[in-house]
This record gives sequence, structure tokens and C-alpha cells, in this order.
Amino acid sequence: MKHQVLIAALALVSASASAADVAVPEKATTCFACHGQGGVSTQPMYPVLAGQYANYLEHALTEYKEGKRKNAIMGGQAAGLSKDEIHALAQYFGAQQGPLYTPSVHGSTK
Ligand code: HEC
Repeated sequence: MKHQVLIAALALVSASASAADVAVPEKATTCFACHGQGGVSTQPMYPVLAGQYANYLEHALTEYKEGKRKNAIMGGQAAGLSKDEIHALAQYFGAQQGPLYTPSVHGSTK
């Protein structure tokens, strides 16, 4: 049990070190207004972006941009983003430390 706690602590330390490695993309400050600083939303109506899979975030943003995922707010936000900007934003938010986690089928560790 003690070992598990230590391993979890080490995982957190290395995750936060890698979060600092990804520079904040210029457009991310716009996102912070709704999704919270670093993508850690404090309001339920705005999804937490921090720590979500980068490829999922990239997919979601591309679908908003192309109108395949329909949302009046995010459609407008994504419309002006280039493919490269979407990629950079997805990498950035995916690398941030967030409150989301996947419960284990063997019982949650949180
Ligand atoms: C005016 C508020 C607002 C701003 C600014 C905003 N968003 Fe959003 N965002 C939302 C809302 C509301 C949703 C939920 C929409 C839905 O249900 O599809 C959302 C959803 C998303 C999702 C889907 C999350 C998921 O879990 O499926 C992504 C990704 C996202 N936003 C990225 C961004 C990025 C990147 C920016 C900055 C370029 C941004 N948003 C700016 C309000 C905002």
C-alpha cells in the first residue's frame, strides 16, 4: 500500500514536470475565460480540458470547426483556428494537470 502511494506521488511529480514543458499557445488565454486557467474549469457548464487526451481534444475542436459537432459557442471559437493552432491547443491542454481521472475496475485509487 505504501508503495502504491509513493508510485502515485512520483507519477504526479513527473506529470507536472511535463506540463511545464509545453508552452502556453497564444490563443489559449481566450479559452481560459470559460474553461478556467490552464483548462481547469471551476464551472460545470464548461468542460475541464486539462488532462484530457490530446487527440480527443484535437478531434473535438476539428469537429466544432467543421460543424460536425454542433455547439453555438464552440463553433464560433473553433471557426477561426487553423489546423496548427488546434494541434498546439490540444497538446497544451492535454499536458496540463487536471482533476479528471479514469476509475479503475479494481477500485478507485482516489
Ligand atoms: C465563451 C465560453 C467558451 C470559450 C471562450 C471557449 N469554450 Fe470551449 N466549450 C465551451 C462550452 C459551453 C463547451 C461545451 C460545448 C458542448 O457541449 O459541445 C465547450 C467545449 C469544448 C471542448 C469539448 C470538450 C469535451 O470534453 O468534449 C473543447 C475541446 C473546447 N471547448 C476547447 C476550447 C478551446 C481550445 C478554446 C479556446 C480557443 C475554447 N474552448 C474556448 C465554452 C467555451
